[in-house]
Amino acid sequence: MKNKLQREFRAKFASSGEPLVVWAPGRVNLLGEHTDYNDGFVFPMAIDAGIAMAGALNKSDRVNLYSLNYDVQDSFALQDIVPSDKKNWSNYIRGVCREFQSAGFEPQGMDIVIYGNVPQGAGLSSSAALEVAAAVLLTTLHDFAVDSVSLIKMAQRAENDFVGVASGIMDQFASMMGHKDHALFLDCRSLDYDLVPTPFEQHGYAVAVINSGVRRGLVDSAYNDRRQECMDAVRLLTKDLPKITALRDVTVEDLPLVNALPQLLAKRARHVVTENNRVLSGIEALRAGDLVTFGQELTKSHRSLQNDFEVSCPELDLLVDLSLGQPGVLGARMTGAGFGGCTIALVPRERLAEFEQRVTADYAAKTNLTAEVYVFGASHGAMLLS
Ligand code: GLA
Repeated sequence: MKNKLQREFRAKFASSGEPLVVWAPGRVNLLGEHTDYNDGFVFPMAIDAGIAMAGALNKSDRVNLYSLNYDVQDSFALQDIVPSDKKNWSNYIRGVCREFQSAGFEPQGMDIVIYGNVPQGAGLSSSAALEVAAAVLLTTLHDFAVDSVSLIKMAQRAENDFVGVASGIMDQFASMMGHKDHALFLDCRSLDYDLVPTPFEQHGYAVAVINSGVRRGLVDSAYNDRRQECMDAVRLLTKDLPKITALRDVTVEDLPLVNALPQLLAKRARHVVTENNRVLSGIEALRAGDLVTFGQELTKSHRSLQNDFEVSCPELDLLVDLSLGQPGVLGARMTGAGFGGCTIALVPRERLAEFEQRVTADYAAKTNLTAEVYVFGASHGAMLLS
């Protein structure tokens, strides 16, 4: 990947010097959905698919971009960075440059070639990978002194303020801090995290990721609505629980108070409270090598996202049900923001081929859509390749 990008860079930007190459992975979230912006717990792993960027300073005040995937160029001036309404992919990089400026840095003009192999619109965080790769490239090219957590926050703000989705910190955190053969148990309030070994293979299982082929259309507006509903629930709950500042502070013992909220808010809050608990018990089970319990937590998570948080869709529900119907499968759920994208399933390795064949065939017969099945390795977070 590195050599190919360097070659492409020389062909496109002949007058620039030798580029640096950076890489940032996408992620798949194993447990803890829609909990990050509630100060809660998440359990994602970085995957071995991501975004690579080759870049060099160009002694100008412009950033010139070339996307290998789309075979298109874009260019913007650093003095006045505004969103592009035609080239949405470039907004992630525009947003990151502007965040550096807001943080007091002065990025110079750059030439950048981008290549990605994360399926897009699949809920595997290709956009976070793009932001994190851009943040690492900028820091390295300019030798800016900035720590990883600040970079993560700048990447997240690029998404929030520039692209306009009020997303939490999980995706950028996983893309930056991922670790080979581990998932990240992240406390989204303190940003403390533990690396938890992913023992699936040694127990004869794999996490299959199934792309529904439904692009996450509704996601931006519905996502922002969910975030607002969670805040509304907190506001009402503070009457009885004056110390809480986020749904993270509400425990399962408080569920009677949650259930007494207006029905919609009760459902939203119930999901977050129980999901935080599922992350804790799922990780405990995984650490004990108890994949059966871990799988059950996955399935419970899906039912909660489906019925209480209402961010699933018929295709994701179908994939989960088809997955659970296959021999030996220990659990399944949608992953990511929802309304399309991917599901995951804990599948016996020796049955993977049969699983893929049956699930994709039944799915196609019922929906006329083509589902794709991937098995990713847990990968290292963002890094410099040269
Ligand atoms: C998207 C957001 C994340 C997180 C998930 C849902 O991926 O970017 O911050 O909220 O949805 O868990």
